[in-house]
Amino acid sequence: MIPLKTAEEVEIMFENGCILAAVVEGLKLMVKPGITTYELDEYCETSIRKAGAVPAFKGYRGYRATLCCSINSEVVHGIPSKSRKLAEGDIISLDLGLKRSGLFSDMAVTVPVGKIDKRIESFLEISEKSLVAGIFQATPGKRLGDISAAIQNTAEKNGFSVVREYVGHGVGRKLHEEPVIPNFGTPNTGPRLQVGMVLAIEPMVNMGGPQVKVLDDGWTVVTVDGTLSAHFEHSVAITESGPRVLTNCPMGGKKGDSFRI
Ligand code: MF3
Ligand code: CO
Repeated sequence: MIPLKTAEEVEIMFENGCILAAVVEGLKLMVKPGITTYELDEYCETSIRKAGAVPAFKGYRGYRATLCCSINSEVVHGIPSKSRKLAEGDIISLDLGLKRSGLFSDMAVTVPVGKIDKRIESFLEISEKSLVAGIFQATPGKRLGDISAAIQNTAEKNGFSVVREYVGHGVGRKLHEEPVIPNFGTPNTGPRLQVGMVLAIEPMVNMGGPQVKVLDDGWTVVTVDGTLSAHFEHSVAITESGPRVLTNCPMGGKKGDSFRI
């Protein structure tokens, strides 16, 4: 059973998504050569708590941080560390979640550190476009496979691949709810999308092959061939008028420290 949310619950999830997206904007301003992923995690936890929410990942299956930060060939679940400094030309995925008023919000972005290669820039753009293509399918009457197929097609027609082992998910009273949302699939298959579903859609796109493995720390997922990987995620409500992205910050375009939570 895919849980449906009431209009009131969706409004709370929208507020939660605004908070989360604002934290992401703050994080983006901190992403510079020389900063450690530990510092990013600290900011993340402090700002989430300041906003009256709690980190969603901390304590989840024994995970010890607020933020997952995955650099270059790391796909997802990179653990923040005092000894890991960002370097010019890296890409870093920032994946975070929070809980407030009993409802979860989950999002991820991948951003450049300083100046990056044109080729990598376009890889990030296509990866984000694959998420957007999936979101466009999140409309009542369509089926889950339409989302999956749109993501896969966007990535693959540009010569990239999608990870099979990790997937998107429903989000709400739990961080991970039904349905499982693969980033590959067949149009017009799977459950029909209904008003009130909230989906965390999260393509993981590799520049090379789709194969991944988990490092000895038990968490960090990396590409087997060592190529770059990008990860973008939004929590999206299905409404009568189509998809509504909940993890959006109305001040998203604004730059500067005054903006930070
Ligand atoms: N970011 C993952 C997701 O989007 C969850 C993180 S797993 C955790 O579903 F253990 F790190 F929390
Ligand atoms: Co997620």
